[in-house]
Amino acid sequence: MAKTILVTGGAGYIGSHTVLQLLLGGFKTVVVDNLDNSSEVAVDRVRELAREFGKNLSFHKVDLRDKPALDKLFSSITFDAVIHFAGLKAVGESVQKPLLYYNNNLIGTITLLEVMAAHGCKKLVFSSSATVYGWPKVVPCTEDFPLVAANPYGRTKLFIEEIARDIYRSDSDWKIILLRYFNPVGAHPSGHIGEDPRGIPNNLMPFVQQVAVGRRQALTVFGTDYNTKDGTGVRDYIHVVDLADGHIAALHKLDEDKIGCEVYNLGTGKGTSVLEMVAAFESASGKKIPLVTSGRRPGDAEVVYASTEKAERELNWKAQYSIDDMCRDQWNWASKNPFGYDTSDSTT
Ligand code: NAD
Ligand code: UFG
Repeated sequence: MAKTILVTGGAGYIGSHTVLQLLLGGFKTVVVDNLDNSSEVAVDRVRELAREFGKNLSFHKVDLRDKPALDKLFSSITFDAVIHFAGLKAVGESVQKPLLYYNNNLIGTITLLEVMAAHGCKKLVFSSSATVYGWPKVVPCTEDFPLVAANPYGRTKLFIEEIARDIYRSDSDWKIILLRYFNPVGAHPSGHIGEDPRGIPNNLMPFVQQVAVGRRQALTVFGTDYNTKDGTGVRDYIHVVDLADGHIAALHKLDEDKIGCEVYNLGTGKGTSVLEMVAAFESASGKKIPLVTSGRRPGDAEVVYASTEKAERELNWKAQYSIDDMCRDQWNWASKNPFGYDTSDSTT
């Protein structure tokens, strides 16, 4: 019988791509999202892309901190597992508004875990981040590196990881997989779903995309004096569809007997500089991206990329898409949807 998966934050960037892969993989999928940083149009488009599997998707506009609403949902549907994406993710905003981040990310997660426990649903996949590696002294980052948090956002990821480990220690019925994402970019190859950040993008590729469609004048390159091949920061960019497939692999892993609370990196194992990403995007789009150079962004690491061995070995998952594929699909999405899912923020 088809398994039923609850996806929190399923209207968001990574969530929407994962929901599509779940539906195509034959899972019944229930999305809860408060639409704080997303649009219900993304859910509608996922339903269309999934064609005959679209009937297996339902959406509930619910804030995770609304315990009675969550409890009602768990009373009416038996979930086999939960994939938990919902959270706020802007690093700079988290420094300005730490209580907002602690309230939303921690209370949202604790409420979810309480309701799951009360209903006997003890299988969880959680969106952690490479941010927990801080400024790694060596690369590639392996899962056993010491963990640090550089800002309130990162601290919410670290705290939730620790909460997950404590829950498992207290009750070995839990099966929990913590996925540490590196830098998700790109969009579904159809160009119908993609990343649609509210306001000024914090991350490199959404900014580049908005320059390409004429919404911003130039990309500011944060730091040209790093000890890297061209002086700009190096990251491990991963196609969002590869990342989505990593969640399906994690769900299959949860079916094994002895899981406990495990952590896996989801990256490609390859480092790419800011200037290399810009060049790849220019050639995919045929658009020139004007650059302005500035000093380093406070808190930024120099070089971060993943060791992918553990995920390859234990999840039987490996990223397939190249940097050129990521840029091609990002441009396909951007050129078809220059203002994202709607035009209401076309002045931002
Ligand atoms: P996103 O903002 O597009 O998606 C998050 C979704 O959660 C949004 O749709 C938002 O409306 C929803 N949400 C937030 N708080 C909620 C709440 N209290 N109740 C219900 N819904 C709520 O972000 P994304 O890029 O898809 O990221 C998904 C997850 O992956 C996040 O937890 C993020 O921290 C993590 N992550 C993202 C990246 C990245 O670079 N995109 C990297 C590492 C980890
Ligand atoms: N960069 C620019 N200009 C910009 C934006 C970014 O030059 O306008 C540079 C950064 O300095 C960095 C690289 O592009 O060298 C990537 O920056 P992003 O902001 O896209 O990504 P980060 O690796 O800095 O951080 C992101 C998320 C974190 C998360 C981390 C790993 O913001 O929350 O990926 O998942 F932890």
